[in-house]
Amino acid sequence: MMNPKVPVITIDGASGTGKGTVTHLIAKKLGWNLLDSGVLYRVLALAAQNKGVSLEDETALTALANALDVRFIAAEIGESLLVFLEKQEVTDIIRAEKVGNAASKVAVFPAVRTALLDRQRAFRTLPGLVADGRDMGTVIFPDAIVKIFLTASPEERARRRYNQLNAKGIHVNLGALVGELRERDRRDQERTVAPLKPAVDAIIIDTDPLTIEQVVAQVMLEIKKVL
Ligand code: C5P
Repeated sequence: MMNPKVPVITIDGASGTGKGTVTHLIAKKLGWNLLDSGVLYRVLALAAQNKGVSLEDETALTALANALDVRFIAAEIGESLLVFLEKQEVTDIIRAEKVGNAASKVAVFPAVRTALLDRQRAFRTLPGLVADGRDMGTVIFPDAIVKIFLTASPEERARRRYNQLNAKGIHVNLGALVGELRERDRRDQERTVAPLKPAVDAIIIDTDPLTIEQVVAQVMLEIKKVL
């Protein structure tokens, strides 16, 4: 349930802008809870694939979203949560590019997004919440005390992702990555409900010329103004 007494900081932006890492670091510094909202869309996409539900079937996807047996097991505050779909641990599986693309397909449906609303707001518990996604500041937590919107060029985002994958020994084509990112951006920006766009009161940070530490420092400056 919505608890307006619990402060929320929202960090929105496209994938590859570093928002996941920034959100973790901020949550850790503050000792606050963390919501990685993309996980819910990723788990739903995986559940649909497991159950043979079409990524185009809004009614079936909504039923699946309402009944979704997803659990987050905390290791430590500010740390990544382990993600379970039914009895299976899916923390790593849902990170695949394929699952991210499927997630952006299920995320276009208004009824699916509504079905996931309360699950996201339930993360709002004391001492506070740092929430990362696309619509955290615009739709889910419009009363957040600080709203950040991170941007980066598709080339820079693809390069970061490429380096991450390379470090894991996974070799991919950089040009193909840029193409997939653009396609996912288009889907996220053009959908009618909760499209990827900054809240009117969001602080926009272009991360292209910045290191993660510099982004975190800028975000902390904004937080210190209001806390
Ligand atoms: O952030 P992440 O890459 O995990 O998100 C996967 C997909 O889930 C996004 O491309 C987007 O379509 C969807 N999503 C969303 N709203 C959010 C978080 C994620 O629509 N708040």
